[in-house]
Amino acid sequence: MCGIVGAVSVASAGTPPAEVVLDGLARLEYRGYDSAGIAAVTDGGLAVRKKAGKLQNLLDELERYPLPPSRAAIGHTRWATHGGPTDENAHPHLSGDGNLAVVHNGIIENYAALRRELEADGALFLSQTDTEVVAHLLGRAYAGDLTAAMLAVTARLEGAFTLVAVHADHPGTIVAARRNSPLVIGLGEGANYLGSDVAAFVSQTKRALEVDQDQVVTLTGDSVTVVDAAGQEVEPRAFTVEWDAAAAVKGGFDSFMDKEIHDQPQAVADTLLGRTDELGRLKLDELRIDETILRSIDKIIVVACGTAAYAGFVAKYAIEHWCRIPVEVELAHEFRYRDPVVNEKTLVVAVSQSGETMDTIMAVRHAREQGSKVLAVVNTYGSTIARESDAVLYTHAGPEVAVASTKAFIAQITATYLLGLYLAQLRGNKYIDEVADYLAELGRIPARIEEVLSRQDEVREVARAMRDTTSVLFLGRHVGYPVALEGALKLKELAYIHAEGFAAGELKHGPIALVEEGQPVFVVVPTPRRPTLHAKVISNIQEVRARGARTLVIAEDGDDAVEPYADVVFRYPATPTLMTPLVSVVPLQIFASELARAKGYDVDQPRNLAKSVTVE
Ligand code: F6R
Repeated sequence: MCGIVGAVSVASAGTPPAEVVLDGLARLEYRGYDSAGIAAVTDGGLAVRKKAGKLQNLLDELERYPLPPSRAAIGHTRWATHGGPTDENAHPHLSGDGNLAVVHNGIIENYAALRRELEADGALFLSQTDTEVVAHLLGRAYAGDLTAAMLAVTARLEGAFTLVAVHADHPGTIVAARRNSPLVIGLGEGANYLGSDVAAFVSQTKRALEVDQDQVVTLTGDSVTVVDAAGQEVEPRAFTVEWDAAAAVKGGFDSFMDKEIHDQPQAVADTLLGRTDELGRLKLDELRIDETILRSIDKIIVVACGTAAYAGFVAKYAIEHWCRIPVEVELAHEFRYRDPVVNEKTLVVAVSQSGETMDTIMAVRHAREQGSKVLAVVNTYGSTIARESDAVLYTHAGPEVAVASTKAFIAQITATYLLGLYLAQLRGNKYIDEVADYLAELGRIPARIEEVLSRQDEVREVARAMRDTTSVLFLGRHVGYPVALEGALKLKELAYIHAEGFAAGELKHGPIALVEEGQPVFVVVPTPRRPTLHAKVISNIQEVRARGARTLVIAEDGDDAVEPYADVVFRYPATPTLMTPLVSVVPLQIFASELARAKGYDVDQPRNLAKSVTVE
């Protein structure tokens, strides 16, 4: 979950590498933000600046102690794993002789044994990090060839890492390696780049190369060499970055989260784009799993974490309804460590925005080991989950920078719905016309989200008035249940308020004891065109109201039945039941974001959280 960036240029070409690195760090700060650092190879040797805290602290340090000119620079934003967020633990870390600097993302699992060995041999450690072990090992393995040293050292490491190193002897070279942690190469003119994702260098180039597992990259301003673990040169796969540099900035909103909430209509539209043929049939060319296998699967298990798991939970209702295939939704970390019943007739669907969530990666591997096919629903091109799965259905939400997921959630629901409809079409559960009707409904979602967004001022006003609230409950039934869970999660992570989501029917089995005078309770109400379901939720509102709750109701336009029991109503345009999560979640996102802002919190970077959780 740390962010890494490297830049190297031929003498005096283009933007100075240190500037590119700082720009990249600003774009990557969402990956980790408890310290930041930079190392540049200058004529006088290595120059290193690093500071605990947000990137601004490093920028202030650079004002005081500017870096001399350089042709190669590497930088890092950190999310602490080994060792607290201090200046000493910030990256880069140096070899014993101070001539080599390295930045690292991931965890070196055998670092304690390596550290003992190095200390016994006289190495002096300045930090508590696992990374410093690598710096010492590289320094000791170096005998004039940094690539050879990297190959030798990575062979000794266990765990997950992206490593990027520079040496004072090589002012125009960067060497990097990866295992179970992302690394991409950017190709410039007289300059080349490295990043933990393309956001690191998207302002410089759109041309990029993928780096595979256990490969080592040697980069100069005008050359890129990639070798495998045996030192054999390999040809990396090229791709074009489709994200615009502007897409990774706030675009006029106060926060990335606000921007991303407003990106949601586009995220749905883009995820639907190009996925039907000229006859209106759903065509998912990227689903490169044999059709006979897709026809024969008898169970789907969605593995995911957090918000992505709630998207899977929504999808369960739709896919079971459309395809008559049982769908289980399992938190990836739980799936991994029990003994799940999966086999070649199980389709495991891994849902992840980042594609780098370690818990989900491990679940993918576990599923494949048992013979299941794994389909990834992922937002980040070329990410580990995308690469390690049998097929990928990309969500086209664009870069999600705010730590709290919003548009990725909406895009995940959209993509998993496409999957459900595709399976229904393929397996003959639905006629083409029915599939086309559902697709048309999905096509109407962007305009409906716009409509909800146009009413956001009332939500914000209520949120501001509730800034001193200490506990909020969320209720929903059917697809409204995962929406309630998501509403509670957003409030917890952004506003640090105790919040819990419940299935509304579960209320009387315990949670109703929490309700006392003035307790705010959000209730997600389904369309009145599902009368039985609707009536049940109305009685749940009455139950909590009768016990003194203050009810905040999310209801369809024209649903008058809620009025007598609602203290506040937020409306969404009429939408078929299965599609309602795509619109009803939006007021809950806005509510959490505004309440957090009213409390003076950083909406984009909530405490203790990181954008992609690359450790188990
Ligand atoms: C909550 C949130 C997290 C992520 C979870 C999975 O707002 O963002 O709960 O949904 O960490 O992350 P991905 O989707 O990257 O696998």
